[in-house]
Amino acid sequence: MNKKISLSDYNIDFGPIATSLKAYLASKPYTKIVLLVDENSRKHCLPLISNCITDDTLLLEIKSGEKFKCLPTCESIWAAMASAQFDRHSLMINLGGGVIGDMGGFIASCYMRGIDFIQIPTTLLSQVDASVGGKLAIDFKGFKNFIGLFKDPKAVLIDTQFLKTLPREEVRSGYAEVIKHGLIRSKDIWHDLSKISDPAEQDWDEEVFHSVSIKKDVVTEDPTEQGLRKILNFGHTIGHAIESLSLTTDKPLLHGEAIGLGMIAETYLSQQVNNLSTEESTVVVTYLSHIYKSVHTNTLTKEDKLIELMKSDKKNKGGKTLFVFLDKIGHATFDHEAESGEIKKAIQRTLELLQS
Ligand SMILES: NC(=O)c1ccc[n+]([C@@H]2O[C@H](COP(=O)([O-])OP(=O)(O)OC[C@H]3O[C@@H](n4cnc5c(N)ncnc54)[C@H](O)[C@@H]3O)[C@@H](O)[C@H]2O)c1
Repeated sequence: MNKKISLSDYNIDFGPIATSLKAYLASKPYTKIVLLVDENSRKHCLPLISNCITDDTLLLEIKSGEKFKCLPTCESIWAAMASAQFDRHSLMINLGGGVIGDMGGFIASCYMRGIDFIQIPTTLLSQVDASVGGKLAIDFKGFKNFIGLFKDPKAVLIDTQFLKTLPREEVRSGYAEVIKHGLIRSKDIWHDLSKISDPAEQDWDEEVFHSVSIKKDVVTEDPTEQGLRKILNFGHTIGHAIESLSLTTDKPLLHGEAIGLGMIAETYLSQQVNNLSTEESTVVVTYLSHIYKSVHTNTLTKEDKLIELMKSDKKNKGGKTLFVFLDKIGHATFDHEAESGEIKKAIQRTLELLQS
């Protein structure tokens, strides 16, 4: 599949990576190129771009995982680039998941006040979510994405071939954002997705393209998150609290696993507090519980702690915990409040459903 989504400053290209990367590199003369990978993207993804890499390319490998998305890693990369005499006409290629993309983009944007960078996202989550919106960040003193900026890459090159080596749980995690995009914006897409029984067996070309298109439309209408863009937070108010709490346990959840549970709870809330029909609510929670049935649910027994964590959500305004609710499949609205009792009930119903 060769397709393209154009944004104001760059394109997102879909298709075989060997072709799209070669074409990009032929289009611009760079003095030097640095390629950032982690051990998994080096092993599984680098071979797919080997035809584009020359002996002159500086290959920098970091350890995989969120805990390395931090300042010391950035410092080591800046030091390597400086000692290899990278100048302002250099290019950084970020080959990996959201950690590589967020941090690599941040490193490139700060090096000598900014050099060009391109993103080659290799996880489902980074392809459908991190590829649009220009958010770049690293974690700082235990706070996620605390230091960062908005800056667009020169290009995003998406090849779903990379997803073939992704572990099952990583696919299921990224799939939460794909489902979310359908639920908040397109009943037709939701309908197609709801036929997928095992995301790990999926051929993702169409779904990734549609999902990125939805995010692009929303972000383009509201680039600075004044209104509409907030609908992208569906499932994230309760989901982020579940994710944070799970990180303090011996069973930490992946981001999308927590968002999957959060979407179940917020679908219940949409029915209780908003006007989502019982029929649609049942269809959605039944499908989500099928996909996320084996996710650890130990955090869901701690409703009070979760509600406490929601109070410190970055998206809150004036001390109020705010939610995105569905009013029907394919349409969401934002800045809703809910009583603690209702939130608790939604969390309890989520737990019951997943245990049944
Ligand atoms: N910028 C944004 O808008 C945005 C949006 C969503 C998430 N994020 C960020 O993205 C990060 C999460 O992204 P992620 O889920 O991609 O995590 P990740 O980058 O940690 O990748 C998940 C795992 O998959 C491995 N991997 C990557 N590609 C692979 C492949 N093709 N085959 C096999 N293994 C592969 C990685 O090495 C890692 O172990 C978080 O830091 C989050 O804050 C950013």
